[in-house]
Amino acid sequence: MATAEQLKALVQSYTAGDQNRFMSVAMQIAAHAARTGKDKLAADLQKLIDEARRRQPEAGAMQPVPIARPGGDLAGLVAATYPHQRLADMVLDAQAHEKLSRVLVEYRQREKLLSHGFHPRRKLLLVGPPGCGKTMTASVLAAELGLPLLYVQLHTLITKFMGETAAKLHIVFDAMHQTRGVYLFDEFDAIGAHRGAENDVGEIRRVLNSFLQFLERDDSDCLIIAATNYHGMLDHALFRRFDDVVQYGLPDASMARHLIENRLSAFDLRRLGWKSITASAADLSHAEIVSACEDAAKDAILADSRRITTTMLNRALKGRERHRSNNQARRGT
Ligand SMILES: Nc1ncnc2c1ncn2[C@@H]1O[C@H](COP(=O)(O)OP(=O)(O)O)[C@@H](O)[C@H]1O
Ligand SMILES: [Mg+2]
Repeated sequence: MATAEQLKALVQSYTAGDQNRFMSVAMQIAAHAARTGKDKLAADLQKLIDEARRRQPEAGAMQPVPIARPGGDLAGLVAATYPHQRLADMVLDAQAHEKLSRVLVEYRQREKLLSHGFHPRRKLLLVGPPGCGKTMTASVLAAELGLPLLYVQLHTLITKFMGETAAKLHIVFDAMHQTRGVYLFDEFDAIGAHRGAENDVGEIRRVLNSFLQFLERDDSDCLIIAATNYHGMLDHALFRRFDDVVQYGLPDASMARHLIENRLSAFDLRRLGWKSITASAADLSHAEIVSACEDAAKDAILADSRRITTTMLNRALKGRERHRSNNQARRGT
């Protein structure tokens, strides 16, 4: 028999008109029946599912999910967008690229996996320094899967009172059964900064633990992504509750070049001295390199030129480095 959670999910997906989810839960029930030796029930369910599919050939195909202006309790906790950046727009190392491609493959074929009793990767932890594409990754996964990006506003979610925070987390995790999407819990490390002086490590841990409990229990059809700059999360052994951890780092010389070529593809880059440019880009994040490219592009446009020179780009890259040191000095980091 189906579990209580599965029955609830079935009713919820029916009321929400989420046909994909309805089918996916039905498949899970069939798979469960097969695993527990109820072959007749499994076969009957499978037949019903196949018939429903034949009548609605679009079911299971990737369609944009109609959404999504979060209402009610959810308003203010979650912001919804439909991003359009693609995986090909990202410059990543082989490890990250492979992991993200795998998430897409498994999610696109999740019904096939579920029908054999396997679960697609859907709970991801992204870790790495600022400006290396963690937030962008969530947008890209949403765009590639035709799903809305539901950005969880941590600053309104986390309140002084742990009970309230847990209740708000509950609302967000409940929403995952109504609205299929990519849910991004961005900048977890900000929890500490946000709480200011009264914050202590125990507090952060309690919020994280509460989140992880919800994460563990979640059986929705959503991608859940947590992103953090804080490497300490990895030591925490918290990451075991995620299906995968993707690590981000500063771009190496060839990635820096790739980024610059992508961002400045509309310009003439033929005579660039790449050695000196990639040396200027060393230690800069993807975001800083992209900003430097935009500065250089503006210089070229204002000079009515289609050519970017080595000097222009080096100046812009050095400018980004200075920009960062000034910011760090101001923040005292
Ligand atoms: N890996 C990347 N590939 C291409 N562009 C990137 C990458 N990482 C960052 N960027 C650029 O920098 C911007 C900010 O990156 P973001 O994803 O917000 O970084 P993070 O969340 O890791 O701090 C992006 O919108 C994009 O323009
Ligand atoms: Mg970010």
